[in-house]
Amino acid sequence: MTRGYREDLAYIHDVGFGSFSLSAAPGLLDMLRRGGIQSGLVVDLGCGSGLWARRIVDAGYSVLGIDMSSSMIAMARRRVPEGHFRRQSLFRADLPGCDAVTSIGECFNYLFDANNNWLRLTRVLRRVYEALRRGGIFIFDVAGPGRLPGRMPVFSHYEGKDWAILVSATEDRRRSLLTRRITAFRQVGEFYRRTEETHTLKLFEAGRVAEELRAIGFRVRVLRGYGRLRFGPGHTGFIARKA
Ligand SMILES: C[S@@+](CC[C@H](N)C(=O)[O-])C[C@H]1O[C@@H](n2cnc3c(N)ncnc32)[C@H](O)[C@@H]1O
Repeated sequence: MTRGYREDLAYIHDVGFGSFSLSAAPGLLDMLRRGGIQSGLVVDLGCGSGLWARRIVDAGYSVLGIDMSSSMIAMARRRVPEGHFRRQSLFRADLPGCDAVTSIGECFNYLFDANNNWLRLTRVLRRVYEALRRGGIFIFDVAGPGRLPGRMPVFSHYEGKDWAILVSATEDRRRSLLTRRITAFRQVGEFYRRTEETHTLKLFEAGRVAEELRAIGFRVRVLRGYGRLRFGPGHTGFIARKA
């Protein structure tokens, strides 16, 4: 297994990129409530540092978060002491009976678990269906082909008070892979510590994902965003209900 979101990048994701799940949270809670899920257990796959898990618990649900990164899980445990968290690949996790499952921020796409492929994804979708009670809801998003339109590589940089990252991203359209090479600098005392991570994502076509969900037995709606949060190119959400 490739280790991803090690200590420094997990910290940077939390302080610098948490706005994705925080902006998504009101829309996600709204979808749960409108779907008749007012209480009960929400399983969050790829829970990261627990920003969304915190909102889940504050809204009156219980939460089980699963993530492969031990640094992310450590932050989630600190942020949500009432929650339950497991460091595990979502592709291998046994899921308890639950009212809702979420997976926010392209978690199904990462190749941190080298076992990730279309077959593994379909198995997870099936396992989610089996774990959900009748009427239960599954909300998630995936990155698909076209996630990186235009000329490549795409270079970007981001910075905060005590960190900075440089990202070089390319999409291999033939193999449906998106690779982000990330150089992270985090201030430790007087100096900045440099670390490197490469994140490779397997891109899944949204139409095929929707078809698979329907074949499993879900009723499916495709989402262009979570509430006011809009997705970028090649990024698609799903709300799937177990009939
Ligand atoms: C972009 S982050 C999103 C984190 C969180 N959901 C959020 O919105 O803040 C993707 C997360 O997926 C996790 N992840 C990637 N592959 C995974 C796998 N196979 N099993 C469990 N977690 C995984 C990463 O460790 C990371 O925390």
